[in-house]
Amino acid sequence: MYSNWEELEKNCKVCKKCKLCKTRTNVVFGEGNKNADLMFIGEGPGADEDYSGIPFVGKAGKLMNMAFQGIGINREEVYIANIVKCRPPGNRNPQDDEVDACLDYLRNQVILIKPKVIVLLGSIALKAILSKDLGITKSRGKWFNKNGILYMPTFHPAALLRDDTKKIYFWKDLKEVKRRMLL
Ligand code: URA
Repeated sequence: MYSNWEELEKNCKVCKKCKLCKTRTNVVFGEGNKNADLMFIGEGPGADEDYSGIPFVGKAGKLMNMAFQGIGINREEVYIANIVKCRPPGNRNPQDDEVDACLDYLRNQVILIKPKVIVLLGSIALKAILSKDLGITKSRGKWFNKNGILYMPTFHPAALLRDDTKKIYFWKDLKEVKRRMLL
């Protein structure tokens, strides 16, 4: 574990702990307010993120930004990161060995940020952080408390692009997060 951001980020950006290092363009470390009360965790970079080095800048990110705007969540005030920091080729799901190799970076980010609430975007984030036994459809919209942090699983924004009917639930879940943040 690193006690400062510079060292953590520097090490993460030259990481060779898994095979994704061979195909990445950029490590997508994360972005946002390092003192955020609210954090979002996605799955892993897509093509646009791999190209830019910034999380959630592609189609799914644009949809998430629109939801943020509508609900009154300021993207600059939150911190956004992913389970794996390098793009899985062809946007396949990250494999267990890749998740295991990468997760310490995210754990370190969470320790440094000390968020009150973490939104888990989609099934990969839910399973990696809370439990492999949980499914996103049943778990979304419910609060989970783990080690003093409140977790809200919801659908991944990319899932909303494939299935319009999920948008209302994503919206509802973010509204609940916003409500909780204001308490
Ligand atoms: N999907 C993710 O899970 N993370 C990103 O950064 C972009 C798309």
